[in-house]
Amino acid sequence: MNILVTGGAGYIGSHTCVAILQAGHMVIVADNLFNSKAETIDEIKKITGKDVVFHKADMTDEAAVDEIFRSHKLDGVIHFAGFKAVGESVEKPLNYYYNNLVSTMVLAKACLRHGVKRFVFSSSATVYGDNAIPYVETMKLQPTTNPYGETKAMSERILTDIAKANPDFFVSLLRYFNPVGAHESGLIGESPNGIPNNLMPYVTQVAKGKLKKLRVFGNDYPTVDGTGVRDYIHVMDLAEGHVVAVENLTEGVHVYNLGTGQGTSVLQLVKAFEEANNIEIPYEIVGRRPGDLPEYYADAGKAKLELDWTAKHDIFDMCRDAWRFEKNYQE
Ligand code: NAD
Ligand code: UFG
Repeated sequence: MNILVTGGAGYIGSHTCVAILQAGHMVIVADNLFNSKAETIDEIKKITGKDVVFHKADMTDEAAVDEIFRSHKLDGVIHFAGFKAVGESVEKPLNYYYNNLVSTMVLAKACLRHGVKRFVFSSSATVYGDNAIPYVETMKLQPTTNPYGETKAMSERILTDIAKANPDFFVSLLRYFNPVGAHESGLIGESPNGIPNNLMPYVTQVAKGKLKKLRVFGNDYPTVDGTGVRDYIHVMDLAEGHVVAVENLTEGVHVYNLGTGQGTSVLQLVKAFEEANNIEIPYEIVGRRPGDLPEYYADAGKAKLELDWTAKHDIFDMCRDAWRFEKNYQE
């Protein structure tokens, strides 16, 4: 298959490009490099020994997107391109609604116009909101509390309605839990701009000495040790999930959780990182971060049953691979 990967120079997209190429498909990347670098495309080529076509293009630009669809005979689209910082989405809601929704609609429109059937969308566990755990795909989604989450719920709705009206448009909505880690080569990984918002990149920067100590946001939650619990998933497992999702995509709308089904607390992750890498992570307990939920993780049963997909890496692999990338990474 020829797969268009939007946002393919970014964190999850680049790892997915590797997995798609290794599964024997062709990859066309479209990215405006807003939050990534063109060199990542070279790293993908280096890891796989395969060629990648790269278009520097904005997915909200209808003419540019149409040009890409005209120049390749595409079999499917995996749509990663978008903005993803929850806090920033509260400060700049219009940017988030515009970029995340318009890109989704422009791409769906191009698929219909050019007869491209398969559309895989990057959604998020955030669409479940404050729900019972584990999160199951059949749950009624809760209103989310930030524009970023809303863009994911709205995009899911838009794609679902388009698929209902167009039987030749097949949609897979992938709800990611907490992607962490890096490709085992250490050549690609997560490199956020500025001070990281997310736990694992913060921990790796503390390990590197770039940041002094981790701030643990609250230790009075009703969880195993009082700190927040999440379902961390190795980014290469997540990438494999996309390969099976696009390969097996059939008529209709299919929703899958991509998680391990396992919860890990902040302090458990810190301990795993210390053990996996033999590095001490200094930390202090501070107040809760507004908007954080105490605990959630996936019911990962549906992806196993229907796609025969399960996450293979454990939390130690995630910590080891995240650190290998950070250690090598030059800004
Ligand atoms: P990322 O920022 O590393 O990658 C996104 C890529 O999209 C970047 O390379 C950026 O330059 C590009 N991009 C953004 N807007 C674009 C546009 N209009 N046109 C072309 N390119 C554009 O982020 P990521 O962590 O790899 O996330 C990928 C997707 O997965 C996003 O949609 C994100 O919302 C979703 N997601 C991420 C997480 C997570 O924790 N990382 C969790 C759930 C869902
Ligand atoms: N945490 C800390 N200190 C930090 C950063 C995080 O203690 O410096 C804690 C948080 O309080 C939380 C846990 O670590 O308990 C994980 O926090 P992250 O910021 O890494 O991840 P979130 O679960 O808050 O959110 C992430 C993405 C969202 C996405 C969601 C999907 O940022 O975009 O996963 O599950 F929607």
